Amino acid sequence: MARGAMPLRITGERVEALDQTALPAAVRYFEFDSVETVAEAIAMRVRGAPLLGLVGAFGMAIAARTAGPDAATLHSAAARLRAARPTAVDLGRAVDQSLQAALALPEHERADALWLRACDYLACRRAEDLALARRGLELLPRAARVLTHCNTGPLATGGIGTALAIVTLGHERGLIAHCFTTETRPLLQGARLTTWELQTAGVPTTLLPDTAAAGLVTSGQVDIVIVGADRIAANGDTANKIGTFGLALAAVRARLPFVIAAPTSTIDFACPDGAAIPIEFRPADEVGGYGGQRWAPDGIAAYNPAFDVTPADLVTAIVTERGTARPPYGASLQRLLEGG
Ligand code: MRU
Repeated sequence: MARGAMPLRITGERVEALDQTALPAAVRYFEFDSVETVAEAIAMRVRGAPLLGLVGAFGMAIAARTAGPDAATLHSAAARLRAARPTAVDLGRAVDQSLQAALALPEHERADALWLRACDYLACRRAEDLALARRGLELLPRAARVLTHCNTGPLATGGIGTALAIVTLGHERGLIAHCFTTETRPLLQGARLTTWELQTAGVPTTLLPDTAAAGLVTSGQVDIVIVGADRIAANGDTANKIGTFGLALAAVRARLPFVIAAPTSTIDFACPDGAAIPIEFRPADEVGGYGGQRWAPDGIAAYNPAFDVTPADLVTAIVTERGTARPPYGASLQRLLEGG
């Protein structure tokens, strides 16, 4: 991707976000100038689990500066931001951590402290993405032909990405032969964003309809499937973009590795298994049309979950910035978090 087209642009105390709904046709930034602009943007103009955590942290800093640093204002900002999207645990976690950190300080110190905290979070994202990608390289077969889903590149994290960073870094090191990416209906993150990032990185790329993925995976043209995550339960069950579960089933059928790449911030020990992960359901309109064009008849009902849960027994490995977890995940994820 154009290296300058990062999802957040920070100049002094101004935060601007790239409107991801306009990509790749237009590179357009808008300013985060209130909690409301941040919360509305989280509904899809900014997206990707790690980036949502980062945006949540900046949202709290903006709340303190623009609405006030008192406890009631910060609590209400946190509630608004947290509720903007439910599945990615990074968002609620970053917002809650910012809230608790601010409340521990005198009111006059809170706005500056929240701002510094958000800037630290950004630096941490960059470092963690790089560490994760380096660990992910160890899982790549020689001249790997990778299939990925949705968008997990720089646009989704603010760093170099997660699953897609393994591909782009692997390409730089001569380890990647090809990357297949699904279009990722209904909002086309794969077709609009991942292709754009891969093309800019010079990775040989093929785009496919989601419906072609199972056939491709079982055809001998793919060596490994690598995707991101929005929330990983304590037992390794993983919520990610709708369609991930089907890719895992196809990979297992083809005896291919199915790898999750996500920072440890995505692991939620409060969810014992996938059934406890809240899944976001999005408007029916998104299925019946796109970009102002409608193809389904008016009034048709649509089933539109934004995410599905892949059961842990289909997952070959979960690679994080701290190391790679293998089944059984209950114990291996715990060890990773404890630094063992
Ligand atoms: O609805 P989105 O575009 O926010 O969904 C994004 C995904 O599902 C990604 O795979 C996940 O957040 C990981 S991003 C590194």
